[in-house]
Amino acid sequence: MQQSATPRPATTIEGKMTFVVDDGVKPATYPEEMTPTGARMTGTYVEKMVRIEDARPIRDSMSLDVQGYQLVDHTSAVTDFYDEEQLHRICYPECIALVQQYTGAKKVIIFDHTIRVEDQAKRAKLDMRAPVYSVHNDYTDWSAPKRVRDLLPPDEAEEMLRHRYLMVNVWRPIVEPVESMPLVLCDARTMAPQDLITADHIYSNRRGETLRIAHNPSQRWNYFSGMRKNEAVLLKCFDSMTDGRARWSGHGAATLTTPRPAGAPPRESIEIRTIAFLVPQ
Ligand code: OGA
Ligand code: FE
Repeated sequence: MQQSATPRPATTIEGKMTFVVDDGVKPATYPEEMTPTGARMTGTYVEKMVRIEDARPIRDSMSLDVQGYQLVDHTSAVTDFYDEEQLHRICYPECIALVQQYTGAKKVIIFDHTIRVEDQAKRAKLDMRAPVYSVHNDYTDWSAPKRVRDLLPPDEAEEMLRHRYLMVNVWRPIVEPVESMPLVLCDARTMAPQDLITADHIYSNRRGETLRIAHNPSQRWNYFSGMRKNEAVLLKCFDSMTDGRARWSGHGAATLTTPRPAGAPPRESIEIRTIAFLVPQ
């Protein structure tokens, strides 16, 4: 059994994050080409020390439409997140219900999940991916509708694209508490349009696009201290509406300046990728 650690007090912390620098050349990420620190990337990047405010004290006032993310209580019946069968049979339906509850969408689909393991030896042994050091948003105005068209039959895709849809990740720890490499999130209201740099996401058989985030001192970064396995972050990575609601938010992993407290495990997490279609009832 994992020894339980005393969580850190809720407080503002400092962490190192990797930001893109807009050098005029479109950056690219190659998710299938893993290096010890994550996927191979081209482009100019800079590391910055950033203040990260614990949003746990204000969690109940947050929403997907304002900040772009929120912390929710959610107990999963999954006993082993490394068991693909359990993920499909238990975790996927749980996440569909969760996203339906928080978005009001009748139709929610799940198309992918990623397990991230901080400990390098364990990551190599299990062939999992690393936390994402460079801050980003998963989709762009081009790649979000492309995803919908790639996933649904043509007629259904065109029908769904006529209405509002959201791409929402469900992020949860697999071990607890999270006391290192936490998920950090940029309040959508504090990102300027010029902070969002479109980047290619190149697989052997297809191309996607993400937004890499450039640093701007007006950005406000959050995390949720000491996340437990019975909690999840809902993270909006795309909203088809452009009416002032949060459309997406920068996120990634921060390397904290303070060491992990004794008893806390290196971070392991899973993110489940969903699309919520707000078709009229
Ligand atoms: C995500 C994501 C990064 C991380 O959930 O989309 O980018 O380090 N996560 O967990
Ligand atoms: Fe992401």
